[in-house]
Amino acid sequence: MVFGLGNKTYEHYNAVAIYLDKRLEELGATRVFELGLGDDDANIEDDFITWKDKFWPAVCEKYNIESTGEEELIRQFRLVVHAPDEIPPNNVFTGEIARLHSLQVQRPPYDAKNPFLAQIKVNRELHHGGDRSCLHVELDISDSKMRYEAGDHVAIYPINDSNLVERLGNLTGSNLDEIFSLINTDQESTKKNPFPCPTSYRTALSHYIEITALPRTHILRELAEYCADEKDKQQLLLMATNSQEGKALYQSFVVDACRNIVHILEDLPSCKPPMDHICELLPRLQPRYYSISSSPKLHPETVHITAVVVQYKTPTGRVNKGVATTWLAQHKPEEGKPLPRVPVYIRKSQFRLPMQPQTPIIMVGPGTGLAPFRGFLQERAFVRANGKEVGDNILYFGCRHRDQDYIYKEELEEFEKNGDVQLKLAFSRDQAHKIYVTHLLEKDLDQLWDIIGNRNGHFYICGDAKNMAVDVRNIVLKAIQEKGGRTESEAVQFLKKLESMKKYSADVWS
Ligand code: FAD
Ligand code: 2AM
Repeated sequence: MVFGLGNKTYEHYNAVAIYLDKRLEELGATRVFELGLGDDDANIEDDFITWKDKFWPAVCEKYNIESTGEEELIRQFRLVVHAPDEIPPNNVFTGEIARLHSLQVQRPPYDAKNPFLAQIKVNRELHHGGDRSCLHVELDISDSKMRYEAGDHVAIYPINDSNLVERLGNLTGSNLDEIFSLINTDQESTKKNPFPCPTSYRTALSHYIEITALPRTHILRELAEYCADEKDKQQLLLMATNSQEGKALYQSFVVDACRNIVHILEDLPSCKPPMDHICELLPRLQPRYYSISSSPKLHPETVHITAVVVQYKTPTGRVNKGVATTWLAQHKPEEGKPLPRVPVYIRKSQFRLPMQPQTPIIMVGPGTGLAPFRGFLQERAFVRANGKEVGDNILYFGCRHRDQDYIYKEELEEFEKNGDVQLKLAFSRDQAHKIYVTHLLEKDLDQLWDIIGNRNGHFYICGDAKNMAVDVRNIVLKAIQEKGGRTESEAVQFLKKLESMKKYSADVWS
C-alpha cells in the first residue's frame, strides 16, 4: 500500500507515489489497499484520514487481525523536568538547531543543521504607502565562506512572537523558564528528542515549535483529553472525526477562522493541556526560504531578499502575523546598536541564467516574484558592462499600483535606460479593470515564440504558484501551438523538452 503526500499546484502531483505504486504492482507485490493521494493544497490530513479509515479494516481482513475498535492515545516522548541546578546553564539549548553553542561558536561549513548567524546590514521598506509592507533586506555573509549564485534561495530561521509565547504559557499555567527534556519512549528510534533538549519552555516555544500553524485534527483529538467542560471536549472530538459534521466544524472553527493553538485554548477555556504535551504535538518550526534578489557578481558579500510581510485579520477579529516576515520587520539596524543577526543558510537551486550571456531571456515575476530577476538583471548588466555581448532581457512585472508597490522602480528604470532590460508593466488596480502580466504576455505571443522557438531563448517564471504560474504556462502552450504550428499534445511535449533542457524554469511558491 502507498499513500503519497503532494500538492496539486505542482505539475508533477504525487508523481513518486503513483510511480512507486505502479512499479510495486509490476514487480509482483500483493495489493492490500488502493493507492491514496494527499493534496496539501486542499486538506492533506483529511485525505489521509479518509484513506486510513478504510485502510486499517483492509489490513485487519488481510492478516486476520481482530480490531478492538478503540484507538489508544500513546505519548511518544517522556517528560523529564530538571531541577533548578541540575543542568549547568552552559548545557541548556537556547535556540541552536542541532549542536550546542553552534550559534555562539560558529564553525563552517554552514547548512540547515549548522546555520550561519548573519548580520542584517540593511532592512528597508520598498512600498510607498498602502496597507502592506515589503522589505528589502541585506544579509552579510562575508565571514561565512558561503557562496551563492543568482537564482539560489536563502533559508531563514525565524523566532516566534514573544507575546504569543507568553499567552501560551499563561493559558497552560506553565513556568516558561522551567528546564525540561522530552525523551523518546522508543529507545531504538534515531530521533531521541523532538527538538534539542534540555531546554526551557520559552526557548522551545520561541525557536523549535510552529505555534502559529493551524493545528491538524489529530492534535485536536489529543487536546480533547484535557477539557474539564464536556462541551469543549465534544467539540474537539467532533472536529477530529471523519464525519461531514466534524469536517465542516473543523473547516469553520480552525481553517476559516485561522485559529492557531493559542486561539483554540483561548476560545475553549476549559482545555488545559500540559505544556510538554503541546511541545510533543506541534510540528517543528521550519526555516522560511527566500529567492535571493542579488547577484554575487555585484554583491559577493551580501545576500539580498525581498519579502512581503504577512499580516491579516481573521474572522474572530484577531490579527495573525507571519513568523519570519514579522520578525524581520521588527529587526532593523539602529544607530549605536549592534546589527541584528539571524541564522541562515543558502540552498542551491536549479533556477539559473543561461550559460551564454547572448541567449535572450523572458522573465515573468509579478510581486515578490521579481526577486530572483533583480539578481539576474544585476548579473547580466555586470557582464555587459564588462564588454560581453548580452541577449535580450525581457521582464514582465506586475503589482497593484504604480505609485505604491512598484518595488525597485528606480533600479528597474535605470536598467531600462541603459538598455539592460525591456520592461513590461502591469498595474492591476490603477484602472477599473484588472491588468495582469498574463494579459500583457498574451498580446506578445509572436515575440514569446520567437524567443523560445527560434532564438533558443530561456523562459523564467517566479512567484505565486496557485494561479499565476498556471496561467502563464497555458499562455506559453498557446504560443507554441498558435505561433509554432504545433497541436495541443505536441505543444505539451515541446514544453516538457524545454523544461528538461532548463529552458523553461519556474521558481514558485504558494
Ligand atoms: P508564516 O508564519 O509561515 O505564515 C504564512 C501562512 O499564513 C501561509 O502559508 C498561510 O497559510 C497563512 N496566511 C497568509 N496570509 C493569509 C490570509 N490572508 N488568510 C489566511 N491565511 C493566510 N516570500 C517572499 O516574500 N519573497 C520571496 O522571494 C520568497 N521566495 C520563496 C522561495 C521559495 C522556494 C519558497 C518555498 C517560498 C518563498 N517565499 C518568498 C515565501 C516565504 O518562504 C514564506 O512562506 C513567507 O515569507 C511567509 O513566511 P512567514 O513566516 O512570515 O509566515
Ligand atoms: P491583484 O492583487 O489586483 O489581483 C502581484 O501580486 C500582482 O499580481 C498583483 O497586481 C495581483 O493583482 C496580480 N495577480 C493576481 N493574480 C494574478 C494572476 N493569476 N496572474 C497574474 N497576475 C496576477
